[in-house]
Amino acid sequence: MTNIQMVDLKRQYSRLQKEIDTAVSRVLHSCRFVHGPEVQQFAREVEKYVGVAHAIPCASGTDALMLCLMALEVQPGDEVITTPFTFIATAEAISLVGATPVFVDIDEQTLTLRPDLLSEAVTARTRAIIPVHLYGQSADLKPVLEVARRHQLKVVEDAAQALGTEYCGRKVGTWGDLTAVSFYPGKNLGAYGDAGMVLTNHSSLAEKVRMLADHGSRKRYLHEYIGLNSRLDALQAAILRVKLPYLDEWNQRRRDIARRYRERLEKLPLTFQRLPEYSTHIYHQFVIRTPRRDELQVFLQKRGIPTAIHYPLPVHLQPAFRQRYGFREGMFPVAEKVAGEVLSLPMHPDLTEEEIRIVIETIEQFFHQQAG
Ligand SMILES: Cc1ncc(COP(=O)(O)O)c(C=O)c1O
Repeated sequence: MTNIQMVDLKRQYSRLQKEIDTAVSRVLHSCRFVHGPEVQQFAREVEKYVGVAHAIPCASGTDALMLCLMALEVQPGDEVITTPFTFIATAEAISLVGATPVFVDIDEQTLTLRPDLLSEAVTARTRAIIPVHLYGQSADLKPVLEVARRHQLKVVEDAAQALGTEYCGRKVGTWGDLTAVSFYPGKNLGAYGDAGMVLTNHSSLAEKVRMLADHGSRKRYLHEYIGLNSRLDALQAAILRVKLPYLDEWNQRRRDIARRYRERLEKLPLTFQRLPEYSTHIYHQFVIRTPRRDELQVFLQKRGIPTAIHYPLPVHLQPAFRQRYGFREGMFPVAEKVAGEVLSLPMHPDLTEEEIRIVIETIEQFFHQQAG
């Protein structure tokens, strides 16, 4: 059996152990566990990395999305447009602030939302659009921003899977009014627990998000908004500060692995996410598509190769959303079709050449055995 992992946090920790243990110990000795210098410095470092004016740390990517919508005062009765082919949190945040999620279907090649469908979905109640940078590739933002400008809507980028990705030569997180980032352990920049961040170039929104993440207060025991307890722990900030300087190198390694996968797998009857000229990719996931996905997944699993499905059911068909909003099968046919075909392969910067070769050759074996 192989020792191939989808994401190998053990290997990463053994490489960084000294630095991480030192950072953790520094926080433990400081006894500053909430707020404080580690959290502030991490925020400044992310601002510099992304090239954005304000980074506001919070407790998770899901909270980051909610904080964005709360800062924009999205409320019950409002509608927010997004993609049905995303992790549940994107739509959940919309529902949690009491608004109604409205979906537009995805492009079959890039797998991100189709901006040409947005205008039709806009109503008098629409307040915002959330494009999702799925798998680490940017959604096509300029046409989204153009629709938003025309209808006076706000744009919240869901960059939970795409820290470091560039759209038209500038990082995602600098285009929308607000951006949500996740540092969930399996992300390309992962904490050792839940963590997230909101990015924005607007200082008034930044101030509001900062307050909303801390019980709506700017001054202790004076609460100007009804907010959340959504603060980033100093321990997580210190760990993320160790990892951030490696992020570009890791993203590059992910791109190299993706190139290796594609070079050989392109010869097989598989479909790949199209890489458009406007976006780079940080390959949070490397995803292949085949109508024989389930069979292939079992074949790989029997040979010690883990895979995952992101995501087996589009959001509109999830029981919670289907019942509450009356969504039905057939409403977003591309998302529904793709959900039955996608398969994410092992992808992390510590994959060895040997492991990449084994993954490729086992997939080749699956298709050749069928042909032979
Ligand atoms: C597209 C997307 N949005 C939002 C989130 C939510 O982030 P978190 O798990 O940090 O709450 C995630 C990831 O988990 C995600 O993949």
